[in-house]
Amino acid sequence: MPFNPELCRNESEVESKLIVQYLLPQLGYTPNTWHQEVAIGSIRLDFLAFAAQVIPFVLDANSPLSVVIEAKHPKQNLNNHVPRLRHYLTSLNVRYGLLTNGKEIRIYEKLQTDIKLVFKCSSKEVETQLETIKCLIGRYSLKEGQLVDQPEVQITEKNSNFEIKRKHSMKTIAIYHNKGGVGKTTVAVNLAAALRKKGKKVLLIDIDSQANTTFATGLIKFQFDEDDDLREQNVSCLLESSDFNFIPEIMRQSHYFNNPEIDVVPSHINLIDKQDTLNKIAVSKSRLISKLKTVETDYDIVIIDTPPSRDYYAEVALIASDYLIIPSDLKPFANQGLPTVKNFLKQINEFRVLIGKQPINIIGVLSSKISTNAKFLQYTFPRQRSVISDRYDLPLMEAVIYDRTSLSECMNNTITIGDLEYPDPKSVIKYAESKANAQQSAMEFEMLAKEVLEEIGVS
Ligand SMILES: Nc1ncnc2c1ncn2[C@@H]1O[C@H](COP(=O)(O)OP(=O)(O)OP(=O)(O)O)[C@@H](O)[C@H]1O
Ligand SMILES: [Mg+2]
Repeated sequence: MPFNPELCRNESEVESKLIVQYLLPQLGYTPNTWHQEVAIGSIRLDFLAFAAQVIPFVLDANSPLSVVIEAKHPKQNLNNHVPRLRHYLTSLNVRYGLLTNGKEIRIYEKLQTDIKLVFKCSSKEVETQLETIKCLIGRYSLKEGQLVDQPEVQITEKNSNFEIKRKHSMKTIAIYHNKGGVGKTTVAVNLAAALRKKGKKVLLIDIDSQANTTFATGLIKFQFDEDDDLREQNVSCLLESSDFNFIPEIMRQSHYFNNPEIDVVPSHINLIDKQDTLNKIAVSKSRLISKLKTVETDYDIVIIDTPPSRDYYAEVALIASDYLIIPSDLKPFANQGLPTVKNFLKQINEFRVLIGKQPINIIGVLSSKISTNAKFLQYTFPRQRSVISDRYDLPLMEAVIYDRTSLSECMNNTITIGDLEYPDPKSVIKYAESKANAQQSAMEFEMLAKEVLEEIGVS
């Protein structure tokens, strides 16, 4: 779309029409990569755009590749605003600044303690000069091909818009509802199993101190405390430091749970004790993001099972995830928890913006533990489903996980060795290989997996 300078009659039109609607998108800055009215100490910037993001977001000597953009009234002489831009660039250590009054566009580059003009054009010429501007401060030129946020992307130019092709892009999905017992863990472990069966590389993370996912994947087979080998090696270790305790050191392979087995980051009851200490370290909330980044070429999909609360661990999971599935039995108590989930997400999204992450993408509410009673399915269930979008304004997933005894059976499967009975849980996918009564449920999870893959764009 061509830019018309006549549209900018005052400072706010310069901001909205020239910068937000025209320049930022043309230069490849998606909404999650720029911020308006940014206050840093005593400095107040009109816009700060990031070519590469660091997490957490810090501006210091090693500041991310970024551009300051200052908009002025069309009657303002830009010369009068150069000293202030100099102050911004040199004190924040930002390399480029764009200054415009809607009629004229200037780009300055920071030297040691000064700035120099490196580009200037009238806004009438902006279209013909776009390539030059892109070369200087376009998101992809600044990064010089090194995306901190999204490694291994190929960038091709198409009709002067950038098209991004991802080679690897691990997707992280949180399974969350603050209502307990709605089937989060059942969905997390069996969805992971169904995706694994489809050939996806899956990492399953248990961040609930109840450790039900850890149990369900066969990692708690010990009978006595002294055999507990998870106390010192569990998900909380990932949050204690950014320098040590990486995912490969902490994760285990599921045990006779699925075919093929799944990598699992286990949980432990001692997460409760560690919560207060971790919670005091704000930066620990984004450590899971950096830890996941280090394994992003190892997995296609990460699934995180969460606690039924709004606690620190639920925050960590929702901050680190790209997507969210909200399992719900669609009953009144679960529904009444949905506004709480939405408020919590609002808070989470505020934090995500601060660290340069897009808001979490809600795949939808997943109908779970649904009765197979024919009358219920004919009359009540359709009404329960429509309430989700009508009253709670949330997307609803197509897939349905019905209440099936085989699902709790396979999780509670045991084996007896000598005099002792040991837990021997199975995914419903594996269980269905030998138990005909589990096949229906296994198929329902395969359909869920298919819908999830479509939603997250993984084929
Ligand atoms: N679709 C289902 N059919 C039959 N039983 C189910 C189904 N989903 C879950 N259950 C059973 O309901 C109970 C609670 O399920 P689950 O542990 O998955 O819920 P949750 O939301 O993870 O609970 P919490 O909030 O405590 O973590 C378990 O005993 C489980 O076996
Ligand atoms: Mg659970």
